[in-house]
Parts: sequence; structure tokens; C-alpha cells
Amino acid sequence: MSEIVKIIVEGKEFEFPLITGTEGEKAIDISKLRELTGLITLDIGYKNTGATTSAITFLDGEKGILQHRGYAIEDLAEHASFLEVSYLLLNGNLPNATEFQNFEHAISEHTLANEGLEAMFRAFPTGSHAMGQLSSMIAALGLYYPKALNPHRTEEAINRTTIRLMAKMPTICAMIFKKRNGHPMVYPRNSLGYVENYLNMTFGQVTKPDFEVDPILINAMNKLLILHADHEQNCSASTVRMVGSSQSNLYSSISAGISGLWGPLHGGANQEVLDMLEQIEVDGGNVQKWIDKAKDKNDTFRLMGFGHRVYKNFDPRAKIIKKACNEVLNKLGKSDPILDIAKKLEETALSDPYFIERKLFPNVDFYSGIIYRAMGFPPDFFTVLFSMGRLPGWISQWQEMRREKQPIARPRQIYTGQTYRVFVPMKDRP
Ligand code: ACO
Repeated sequence: MSEIVKIIVEGKEFEFPLITGTEGEKAIDISKLRELTGLITLDIGYKNTGATTSAITFLDGEKGILQHRGYAIEDLAEHASFLEVSYLLLNGNLPNATEFQNFEHAISEHTLANEGLEAMFRAFPTGSHAMGQLSSMIAALGLYYPKALNPHRTEEAINRTTIRLMAKMPTICAMIFKKRNGHPMVYPRNSLGYVENYLNMTFGQVTKPDFEVDPILINAMNKLLILHADHEQNCSASTVRMVGSSQSNLYSSISAGISGLWGPLHGGANQEVLDMLEQIEVDGGNVQKWIDKAKDKNDTFRLMGFGHRVYKNFDPRAKIIKKACNEVLNKLGKSDPILDIAKKLEETALSDPYFIERKLFPNVDFYSGIIYRAMGFPPDFFTVLFSMGRLPGWISQWQEMRREKQPIARPRQIYTGQTYRVFVPMKDRP
């Protein structure tokens, strides 16, 4: 027997279905609430609103659990490659050897970006933010595949777009990096693995054809991309679903997701964290002073990389990244005073009642920037790397929404403006 929830409105009782997920999560299905009672629910910022059911990612913010298609993030980060995790998110299961080979091969066939796209790219102002360039490039990419704009695409056509996006994203990200440094582009080398190819296009040079990417960097990048691969209904994934729900094409939906991720309260936080840590270092390393600033309600400063809408105990990704951060710096033989400041900041915040009471812990962005920096990436590029990692998650969310034929997303509101007033012609206005 299905469970029900009773809601009493002005003395009258109404019944609504109680939905239970496979991990025991419960929700009241209020889709008929307005029809039955005339009421809507109000939840600004969707803090307690389930916008969809989903079989991609499970997250328990209280227990610090994150699983993709049933696999723990800890296991995936330790044992899988980013491309394996991408396949898992996109297809629902881990690939066998043949499936993986076919997937990798299909991607390697589509790594080149159209020369016309490059012409547009060159017109971007020097020094413009990498995320603005990325979202524009992904939207423009769709213009080269007009058939992909048709909302009634076949599965095969969508798979082709998925492969194209996965294949061209690293090339576009590397183009942005090279332009930023004023260096000529390095073309994709399709004999290399996905991550190695990306790093080769980024750190390789046209004048050094025998350049080889350090395996430490390949491992670190694989791990970082996996840790960013999906995170259920966050701001950018919800944006991708919302834009896609109007039957807008996959390219423009992903471009919108990139714009959502850019903001400092979401993926843009990793750049902000590094800027903050550098500021603290330049300021003499007085961690307590900055903690006090973050607590001061008259000060707009927040401890970047701290706090999360869903995690209220710890962010499992932050735990893995902190460990990886130490390992990567050790292996690369680098020490970074910024890492010491980060550790001190974390320690001080975690023993401060303000942060304890509000359940504020380091999130995924707190330590990732330190690894990226050690690898040779500048802060304004960090969110681009996040986007590259999040791409398979965004596509999976978009595909799930489309396969389930979900309706156009269209929230309601409670109007708080002027009530009806009589129009006064301009000549009669005071
Ligand atoms: N520093 C100081 N105080 C904070 C912080 C912070 N980083 N985060 C939250 N708080 C405080 C708020 O001021 C608020 O205090 P109050 O109850 O006294 O008013 C309380 O904690 C709750 O915070 P909200 O902003 O209501 O929580 P919300 O769930 O809306 O925000 C968010 C979550 C946006 C992540 C927030 O914690 C934040 O701004 N963190 C810094 C930015 C950041 O690191 N973003 C990356 C998130 S991870 C990701 O998107 C990949």
C-alpha cells in the first residue's frame, strides 16, 4: 500500500502521495496541491524542493555520502579513470573493456574544433575571463551542427552530440589556456588518453614534439575531474535541466550550465579561495583576523570554500582533495605557503562556535585550487577545469530529463507588488 501524507487546509483534509527513493529519502508529491487546495508552496532558493526524481547521483548531506549510479565517490576517485566515470554517468553502468574502448575511440575521433570556431575565438578580447570564453564557445559549437538544434532528435543524434561535446571540451579549454598565455595552440593527439591529451594540449608546445606529460599530473587531473563529475541538482545542473526543459538543444543547455557554474557562490568559488588565501598571505597570514571578518555581519566577506547547501557534516570530496593535495605537492617536490594558511584557516574555523553552530565545513573548492596552482594553472582558469569535470554530469542530467519527457520547468510565485491601479496619462502625472 502506498503511503500518504495528510495536509489540513482551513479545516479540510487533503491526501498526497509520499514518495520514497531507493536510499529511503522521502518527499511529499505536491503536484496536485494547487489543483486541490488553490495553494502553491513557497521555497525561495529551492532549499527544500525536489525538482525531479533522478537515478544518477545519491547524496546524503548529513552523513557525507556521495555515490554515482551506486558507486561511492571514494572508490571511483581511487580506482577509476575520468572517462570510465563519464561512461558510468552517461550510461548507468561501468563499461566493460570493449565498451570502454569504443567510447574512448569515438571521443578521440572528434577532438578537433572547427577552424571557423577558432576564428570567432580569436576575436575575444585578450584577458577576458576564461569562463565567459568557454560558455560562448560551447554555445557557438552548436551552430556547426544545425541538426542537433532540432528538439525531436533521435537517441543516435543525441549520442553523437554527447561524444562531440566530450571530445571538444578539452580542446576548447586548452585553446583558452594557450590564448591566455599568448602561445600557439597544440593540436589534439588522438593516440593519447583523454586526460593526457588535454594536458598535452595545455602544457605541450608546438616546438617540443617529444614533450611528455608527467604521470603525476595525469593522475591528479583524473582524480580532480572525477570529484567534479556530478553533484545532483545543484545550481548549474538545475540550469542545464531548466534550459533543456524548453527543448532547447544540448549545446545551449550546457553553455547555460557553464554560466551558472561561473558564479563565486558555486564553481567560481575555487578561484575566490585562492585569491582569498593569497590576500591573507600578503596581509601577513593573520588567519584569525579573516575568520573574524567572515563572522562579522556588517562585512560582506565570506570564507570562500566553506559551507554548502547540502553537506552539513563534511564534504566527502573535500576530504579526498585535501589528501590528494598533500600527495601531489610532495610528489612534485613543491611546498606552498598557501597550503599552510589553508590548513590553519580550516583548523581555526572548525573550532570556532560560529562555524560549528552553522555546520560550515570546507567544500570541494577549498583545496582544489592549491593542486591546480601546483600543476601550473592560474586561478581564473580553475572554474574551466571544474566545467570540464562536470560536463558528463550535466549531459547525464539533460538526457535523463529528456528521456523521461519531463515538462517545461516553470515555477510559480507569490506576487508582492502593487495591486491594480488606474493608468494616468503622462500629462496628468505630478
Ligand atoms: N563564511 C561565513 N559565513 C557563512 C559562510 C561562509 N563561507 N557560508 C554560510 N555562512 C553563514 C551565513 O552567513 C548564514 O549565517 P546566519 O544564519 O547567521 O545568517 C549561515 O551560515 C547559513 O548560510 P546560507 O548562506 O543561508 O547558506 P546557503 O545554503 O544559502 O549557502 C553557500 C551555501 C552558498 C555555499 C554558502 O555557504 C557560501 O556562500 N559559501 C562560500 C562560497 C562557496 O564556497 N561556494 C562553493 C560551494 S560548493 C560548490 O558550489 C561547488
